[in-house]
Amino acid sequence: MEFETQYDQARQMAEQALKESLLDMGPHQELLQAMRYSLLAGGKRIRPVLVLKFCEALCGEMEPALDYAVGVEMLHTYSLIHDDLPCMDNDDLRRGKPTCHKVYGECTAVLAGDALQAEAFSRLATSRRTLRPESNGEACAVLAQAAGAVQGICAGQYLDMNGVARDEESLNQVHSWKTAALLKAACLLGLTAAPVAPTKEQWKAAKEYAQALGMAFQIRDDMLDEESTTQELGKPVGSDRENGKVTYATLYGLDICQELVQRYTHRAKMAVQEAFPNSEFLCALADALAKRDH
Ligand code: IPE
Ligand code: IPE
Ligand code: MG
Ligand code: MG
Ligand code: MG
Repeated sequence: MEFETQYDQARQMAEQALKESLLDMGPHQELLQAMRYSLLAGGKRIRPVLVLKFCEALCGEMEPALDYAVGVEMLHTYSLIHDDLPCMDNDDLRRGKPTCHKVYGECTAVLAGDALQAEAFSRLATSRRTLRPESNGEACAVLAQAAGAVQGICAGQYLDMNGVARDEESLNQVHSWKTAALLKAACLLGLTAAPVAPTKEQWKAAKEYAQALGMAFQIRDDMLDEESTTQELGKPVGSDRENGKVTYATLYGLDICQELVQRYTHRAKMAVQEAFPNSEFLCALADALAKRDH
């Protein structure tokens, strides 16, 4: 099957499950609406696709990982809602729509993010799709590490916001923690959901793939902030410059950035080629993300 068809199939499976989530959650209708507004606003759904496809690479099926795929996208959406707040990047547009705080106000947006994070962990903890009894606990630990203050999203966002990351080494840390960490969690969650446990080599390969993919992904994101259009991206271009951020694009210029994206993409592909017999999709995904225009 062609890469695009496979991507669409996995994306639609995740999309449907996301639509069916957060329907009956009690009396606070506006809070729920705010959560669904951001969660269902579109987006490329890369993280849930990675969850599903890593599960498939290990056991031939995507279904065992569906709750983990939903959970990871909820956590990602929380991070976007908070990232756009006036106290952070102060952006008005996300996924082609006004940001959560523009529509619902800052308090509700903060709480919608908080609640999406809680719901993400609840999805993982209560999934009944996996056959190994220890999977859900392991999955929660994987996601907690990716979200947290040591080497996770909070650590990366903290470094990004306090402006001390002004050279390559510290920028690499920011990228690893704010972006690669969750992509890594997505890949590992796919492996965790499968009824068979991965080998040590497969676990390590998934981590290396995601780390390199994450670096390429954030460098491409920084490039698009400079060279794309708001209409194409669905989020404001020039946001990094306006906020005085040092990025790969401002440090090295777009040509060197594209070379680095290629180098990391190559590294990602090498990591999975031997460890997984069906690595074609994962390699094609890395290539597609290196060229992405939104
Ligand atoms: C945006 O992630 C935040 C970054 C880590 C750069 P995506 O580019 O995956 O955003 P959506 O989910 O497609 O909107
Ligand atoms: C944020 O990076 C990554 C997150 C953890 C949300 P950016 O601030 O560059 O993401 P965009 O460009 O707003 O999507
Ligand atoms: Mg940011
Ligand atoms: Mg931002
Ligand atoms: Mg950006």
